[in-house]
Amino acid sequence: MPAEGGAGAGSARPPRRGDIPHQNKKVVLAYSGGLDTSVAIRWLKDQGWDVIAFTVDLGEKKDLDAIQTRALKTGASAAYVADGRLPFIQLFVWPSLQAGAVYEKEYPLATALGRPLIAAMMVEVARREGAQAVAHGCTGKGNDQVRFDVTTAALAPDLQVVAPVREWNMNRDDEIEYASKHGIEVPATTRSPYSTDENLWGRSIEAGVLEDPWAEPPKDVYAWTRDPRQCPDEPTYVEIAFKEGIPVALDGNPTAALELVTALNKVGGESGVGRIDHLENRLIGIKSREIYEAPAAILLLQAHQALEDITLPKEVARFKDLVAQQWAQMVYDGLWFSPLRDALYAFVAETQRHVTGDVRLKLFKGSSQVVGRKGPHQLYQLSLATYGKGDQFDQSAAAGFIKLWGMGVRTSARVQGRLQERDLGNLLGDVKRLAP
Ligand code: ARG
Repeated sequence: MPAEGGAGAGSARPPRRGDIPHQNKKVVLAYSGGLDTSVAIRWLKDQGWDVIAFTVDLGEKKDLDAIQTRALKTGASAAYVADGRLPFIQLFVWPSLQAGAVYEKEYPLATALGRPLIAAMMVEVARREGAQAVAHGCTGKGNDQVRFDVTTAALAPDLQVVAPVREWNMNRDDEIEYASKHGIEVPATTRSPYSTDENLWGRSIEAGVLEDPWAEPPKDVYAWTRDPRQCPDEPTYVEIAFKEGIPVALDGNPTAALELVTALNKVGGESGVGRIDHLENRLIGIKSREIYEAPAAILLLQAHQALEDITLPKEVARFKDLVAQQWAQMVYDGLWFSPLRDALYAFVAETQRHVTGDVRLKLFKGSSQVVGRKGPHQLYQLSLATYGKGDQFDQSAAAGFIKLWGMGVRTSARVQGRLQERDLGNLLGDVKRLAP
């Protein structure tokens, strides 16, 4: 029986010195145009890979033509640029908005939602090119490697995943040296003190001085949102219309998905809304500090929640909170393409049938408030809620209801002793009493 290991599976003869490990094999590399992935093109080539660079536009304001040209100059044998903006919003962002997904009560998941789409598109390129592998520039310490690797495993288990940065053991200075030695052009824009990732749903900023969780984020961290001190002295109002949990209009005008998100990023950012300072738990067991800017996400999640408040039955709303948390954790942990997401979405979709209506938000110097909500199928009924004229609620029915509702507590008190005696003692203390 042949021994396992040793010569790689399928090789006709044992490898000899001077062999290039991956000669004549194709890899599709997720290429951002930055230092890591530029160095990766060259590094993969040195291992014998034929490198196809793949760049996808998720709404970050980048010069995509320049990136495509740079990929070829750096040694890629082909360079793709794809527009992923609409599928990103429609297939990833809208379902997560309907779910109400926010990771650890803070993070609307911009980066986490972008990764499975990028990976899925890379699988398509790999099929088209007949590639044997996909590659990404993620480090071995983050969540993004998990999202790329698991998405590939879910969609194309036969494809190998190569993660050069995880393997090569170079720090940033080593990479810069490697780049200059090999004549790899590194654009000046990558020389930021931070590591950032950006798409339509938000901007993620980490590293540099932010690694000290006690340090307040300096001004230069922010690019989308104004300092609240520089915001207008008058509040701004926005009205968002939803149809079955999906935003469809702004201030009364029907607005397509991309325009809607872009407009809300702008209005929110101008009012300083959307800054998040999150000390988060990564999947791999590290705590890290990340700053996010996500004006549109914050506004839409807030508005959507407000519409659910007025349209969802109490029990559905409570259970949906659990689903929202589970959804956020699932997305964060790289399980977008999983049976769990299909199952959770079946529930989420069912809950959205009546989440139709309008929400009015008031934006002012870094904060946003819901100031109005209404919907054609709202469960809020004035005839039941009012303390004024037109009250149709039968108050006399409350007494019998409460008698039964409190039956258990009454029984406990009678049989097992009253709380007052057991735990509270003398709450009143030296109370003042006056009588005529
Ligand atoms: N912590 C975020 C996440 O895991 C963002 C990761 C990417 N951040 C960055 N600054 N490059 O989804």
